[in-house]
Amino acid sequence: IKTIGVLTSGGDAPGMNAAIRAVVRTALAAGIKVKGIRKGYNGLLEEDIIDMDNKSVSDIIQRGGTILYTARCLEFIKPEGQDKGAAICKKHGIDGLVVIGGDGSFKGAAALAKRGVNTVGIPGTIDLDITCTDYTIGFDTAVNTAMETVDKVRDTSTSHERCSIIEVMGRNAGYIALWCGVSNGAEDILIRERYDYDEQHIIDKINKRRETGRKHYIIINAEGIGDSHGMAKRIEAATGMETRATIIGHAQRGGSPTARDRYYATAMGAKAVDLLIAGASNRVVAHKNGEFVDYDIEEALAMTKDIDQYMYDLAKRLSK
Ligand code: F6P
Repeated sequence: IKTIGVLTSGGDAPGMNAAIRAVVRTALAAGIKVKGIRKGYNGLLEEDIIDMDNKSVSDIIQRGGTILYTARCLEFIKPEGQDKGAAICKKHGIDGLVVIGGDGSFKGAAALAKRGVNTVGIPGTIDLDITCTDYTIGFDTAVNTAMETVDKVRDTSTSHERCSIIEVMGRNAGYIALWCGVSNGAEDILIRERYDYDEQHIIDKINKRRETGRKHYIIINAEGIGDSHGMAKRIEAATGMETRATIIGHAQRGGSPTARDRYYATAMGAKAVDLLIAGASNRVVAHKNGEFVDYDIEEALAMTKDIDQYMYDLAKRLSK
């Protein structure tokens, strides 16, 4: 491997910069040139490619977002786009590529590997919805951001004796919601993986708790379950308890990464480069059962995982 390219793709996630820094410096230390590809696969197709040195990644480990910018690229789903991408890699001498992103981004990496560019993926998304790994870059920071916001909403909710529905991100996955629900001691956690859309059950629970003198009721709602504002109106009408909805939104994607996100992203960035140096391709780095490992991309994409049933049940037991 003579030149390694690095790009970030899909939604940004705190810790991506730490991974980029590790990729760049590990490669340079091994005598390999590094090129940063900006704006994900879009930037590859537009040849938005820059040379990177040790200084390019100074002072970024603590910063949220991604210095390489990111995008979701529809053109790269098509074989023509993938052919063009591989040709551009070859034109720029990029014989190894590190792709930091989610499952969609790994599909692009697999397509490039088939076309002769050695690729390694690193899981980067706040959603934790990459099935081959127990950890994804950005999840820890996002959960902490959401948890702190829920704490704040809870203060005002208690003062006003209100019910609060707080909607967190996660796309189709309930990991952020579950972790917040447990960490904030929420009364209800609504996640697609388990929620049976029975609002009456929530209403009965609120009424029961109010009879025992409880002053607040926190519901963590994973995005995609339904309209939080509409749900707030229905719950208020049915219970008589003032109810407000808060959608935390993109604040969860920003901010300075936690130590865990910087630490794991750094390890994954270095491992991706080590794999390329060892001649590997079409691999994805993962953290599984406490260890950094790597899988074949197709094998990784075929894996499944589920939310932690024990913790979900425990949250229910503790919120009686
Ligand atoms: O995948 C990260 C994520 O923040 C999801 O949680 C959310 O569903 C989605 O991206 C939002 O995407 P966008 O920033 O394009 O609105």
